[in-house]
Amino acid sequence: MTQVSNDTARDSRDRVIVFDTTMRDGEQSPGASMSIDEKLELAKILEDMRVDVIEAGFPIASNGDFEAVRQISEIVTESTVCGLARAGMVDIERCAEAIRPAKRGRIHTFLSTSPSHRDHILKASQEDILEMVTKSVGHARNLCGDVEWSAQDATRTEQDFLRRCVEAAIRAGAQTINIPDTVGYTYPSEYAEIFRDLIENVPGADTVIFSTHCHNDLGLAVANSLAGVQGGARQVEVAVNGIGERAGNAALEEIVMALKVRGDRLPYFTGIETQHITRASRYVSAITGFPVQFNKAIVGKNAFAHESGIHQDGMLKDRGTYEIMTPESVGQGGSNLVMGKHAGRAGFREKLKTLGYELGQNALNEAFQRFKDLADKKKHVFDDDIVALVDDALASGSDRIQVKSLRVIAGTEGPQQAELIVTVDGVEKAASATGDGPVDAVFNAIHEAVPHTAILRLFQVHAVTEGTDAQAQVSVRLEEDGRIATGQAADTDTLTASAKAYVNALNNLFARKEKSAPDAIASGF
Ligand code: KIV
Ligand code: ZN
Repeated sequence: MTQVSNDTARDSRDRVIVFDTTMRDGEQSPGASMSIDEKLELAKILEDMRVDVIEAGFPIASNGDFEAVRQISEIVTESTVCGLARAGMVDIERCAEAIRPAKRGRIHTFLSTSPSHRDHILKASQEDILEMVTKSVGHARNLCGDVEWSAQDATRTEQDFLRRCVEAAIRAGAQTINIPDTVGYTYPSEYAEIFRDLIENVPGADTVIFSTHCHNDLGLAVANSLAGVQGGARQVEVAVNGIGERAGNAALEEIVMALKVRGDRLPYFTGIETQHITRASRYVSAITGFPVQFNKAIVGKNAFAHESGIHQDGMLKDRGTYEIMTPESVGQGGSNLVMGKHAGRAGFREKLKTLGYELGQNALNEAFQRFKDLADKKKHVFDDDIVALVDDALASGSDRIQVKSLRVIAGTEGPQQAELIVTVDGVEKAASATGDGPVDAVFNAIHEAVPHTAILRLFQVHAVTEGTDAQAQVSVRLEEDGRIATGQAADTDTLTASAKAYVNALNNLFARKEKSAPDAIASGF
């Protein structure tokens, strides 16, 4: 096996801080909105993974963002919880308030420095910018002991002016200086050079940590981040599955594994426990409804699949012939046949542990029952099936509306028809409807049973494994009055999965509505 670990001979100066921005920059991907509960769950997964800093949101942006940052600050104890703020005093104060409960909190404040942003967005001179940097960072430092400053669009900023801005931020008290490639414009050697220059020439540079923040517009975000580390940066800002504005941010899993696997040439290390990577990736994909491309590095379905005969032959002789890291090292159990319907609860619990789940007794019972039901229907139950059914149980377990039964008449002769029974707080409601296709009929029947004005924004179906008896995993995104909620479900019956995913999204939508107006749901039914 060629895998080289840099676990030995560690020098703390080579430690790279992992700053996750999935919930902030990642959530800025069009359509990737996450609920507070989903963010809380993701924060737990990131903390389990030993992410150093969790950027939990942009508190001034909305009450929802504020609440997410505040509640995450309450539950996270190991990672630093960070909120983003523009340079204005009110932004910074709102951010300070949101992170106040955190054991370790950070204010991340930013200001554009490039000529393009100065002239077109801020209409400010270089001197104005320098003054704003000093004021904003100083104000943030008065409110929080840990302050990061970002030069938005740094890579298109005149280098001499960038040096002056960084110097001003350091003087005002910032301990982390982020040099974002906001528009994904730089390339590796140039980005590394920017860091070398700042570290060599800015007074006080040796007292702070420099950070990368790379967007993927040219597909270079990961390469640029690694080059930034070679240039002296010791923090990387990343997002799970590389989600983020436009083409996304540098992918957490790719940077972390590149540093781990290529420790021979990249002698840096992170504190990430990499076996949690796949679970984080799947969770982010499920809650955003953004599928992970099959050939995506590290977390794609095919990332460890060996199809050609020559490769399979090599793998059987020695895994190192075609694998530079093991699937287990990133928490991919592979598509192993796990257990049949005679499996016991203890074995099932052990299996869940290897897949990264530690469930309480009730959730375990519910998942075990679902597993038994699935094993009755499906010939082979794979790890991926178990992950789908547990995620499904966790997503819908406390839903007030549940699908009880569904019958659909479909075929070449329309209209297709759906008969549905749901329970709302335990009370049954029956409805039937026709539609332009079976899915439309099912969704119309749900509308009949639970009247609402939400608009369907996304409907997506994936097969969890291969074969005609594979579970269908369905994601649904709904929007109502500017609120967006995603739901998901898995079932061997695609239409049942669709109904459950739609109902799960409705529950999530109503739960948000309920938080802002507690009586709205009851009257909505
Ligand atoms: O890309 C960017 O410049 C940002 C900053 C707010 C850090 O996301
Ligand atoms: Zn960004």
